Amino acid sequence: MKYRIQEISQIVDVSVSTIRHWQKEFSDFIKPEKTKGGQRRYSDEDISMLCRIKDLLYANNNSIPEAKILLRKGHVDNGKIDWGNQSILLTGGTGSFGKHFCEIMIKKYHPKVIRIFSRDELKQLEMRQKFGDAGLRYFIGDIRDADRLRRAMEGVDIVVHAAALKQVPACEYNPLEAVKTNINGAQNIIDAAIDAKVKKVIALSTDKAVNPVNIYGATKLCAEKIITQGNAYSKPQGPRFSCVRYGNVIGSRGSVIPLFMNQKKNRKITITNEQMTRFWITLDQAVELVVQALSHMQGGEIFIPKIPSMKIMDLAKAIAPECEIEFIGIRPGEKLHEILTTTEDGRNTIMFDGMYITLPNYSWWKRENYKNAQKVPEGFVYTSNSNDQWLSSEDLNEIIYNSSNSFNIDRRGSYIKN
Ligand SMILES: NC(=O)c1ccc[n+]([C@@H]2O[C@H](COP(=O)([O-])OP(=O)(O)OC[C@H]3O[C@@H](n4cnc5c(N)ncnc54)[C@H](OP(=O)(O)O)[C@@H]3O)[C@@H](O)[C@H]2O)c1
Repeated sequence: MKYRIQEISQIVDVSVSTIRHWQKEFSDFIKPEKTKGGQRRYSDEDISMLCRIKDLLYANNNSIPEAKILLRKGHVDNGKIDWGNQSILLTGGTGSFGKHFCEIMIKKYHPKVIRIFSRDELKQLEMRQKFGDAGLRYFIGDIRDADRLRRAMEGVDIVVHAAALKQVPACEYNPLEAVKTNINGAQNIIDAAIDAKVKKVIALSTDKAVNPVNIYGATKLCAEKIITQGNAYSKPQGPRFSCVRYGNVIGSRGSVIPLFMNQKKNRKITITNEQMTRFWITLDQAVELVVQALSHMQGGEIFIPKIPSMKIMDLAKAIAPECEIEFIGIRPGEKLHEILTTTEDGRNTIMFDGMYITLPNYSWWKRENYKNAQKVPEGFVYTSNSNDQWLSSEDLNEIIYNSSNSFNIDRRGSYIKN
């Protein structure tokens, strides 16, 4: 499709004279065709480029020469994000990830504002007591409610979508509730982000979404697909949608560490299967992965961190070496090992900046990032039992008891969740 300059001005939302000025300054990057009568006709790629130029000049405050350097280097969105000018909406802001994200953002990146979006007022009250009001706003809302989300996204640049129902047994027992929150919620995020003209949306996914065997994983797989394909609804100047996908977060709510810590008091812990392995990531790493993904994303990618695995028996040894172990058998909807990348994903997967990135099957925009990326070898899979990095029980002990910011456990056994 070809556009006249007046149409381009409306799409990019700058005046015709600004388009003419940028056309002159960035003639190496914007190459409209000319009609026989000498009229310029712009392509979708030109629109993409004009939107990037607008971002570099207006959102990131670069001068025209700086913007040219960034574009020549292929940096485009890959330049560092000017966090001071970003308003962020964080769904699920009162959860394990959300609170840690806020902590790191406030200490290190200083965004203009983070809007916390979640349902329970008590969790928000507790968060306000801990973090105060500086730089944070607290929105009560449910991601199932599209109108509320649309209102909450007004004036927002970046959406970090962490809200989910994520307890496997709860999702198995209440499958349609998991669908409403995890799938319908993802659809509402896309619609609201497009309507509110958000720039970037990153959604959190899980290894359980890969070849899912439970409702939680299946709904997160749908959410992943909906989010990455959300780019199909978005015009070149509209929001970009991508996901991060990772494994178990050490010490998050409802995970095995708090379970073992509680069971340890009775000197007996339960393990489903002694062969079990899991990927493990700290909250620090999860937050930095999201920050990295926001810097690199062009839309449709799934960002996967290189993280270590652990054996469940090593975790038991680290937390409760003195306890009896009762083996209770693998639970419905549980896997022995988890997968972060399948052979099929592997065909579109690259190694870049210490991560794996699965690129979308459809290319909505010309990709200029990932120039120095390496393709993963044919047949590549990334599973928790075939990992080349492992946490020993000593490593786990160190992480669990000496972790400075993700959570704390005192050696007498009290688990203190931050
Ligand atoms: N924890 C892990 O091991 C892990 C691993 C991989 C991926 N992930 C993904 O990471 C994300 C964050 O996980 P987490 O560990 O931080 O979860 P979490 O601690 O359970 O927090 C979930 C958050 O979502 C909010 N929420 C739930 N339903 C909502 C709804 N309908 N509308 C608005 N807010 C809602 C909750 O607050 P209210 O209840 O007050 O609404 C809470 O703030 C999830 O998407 C999860 O799938 C987690």
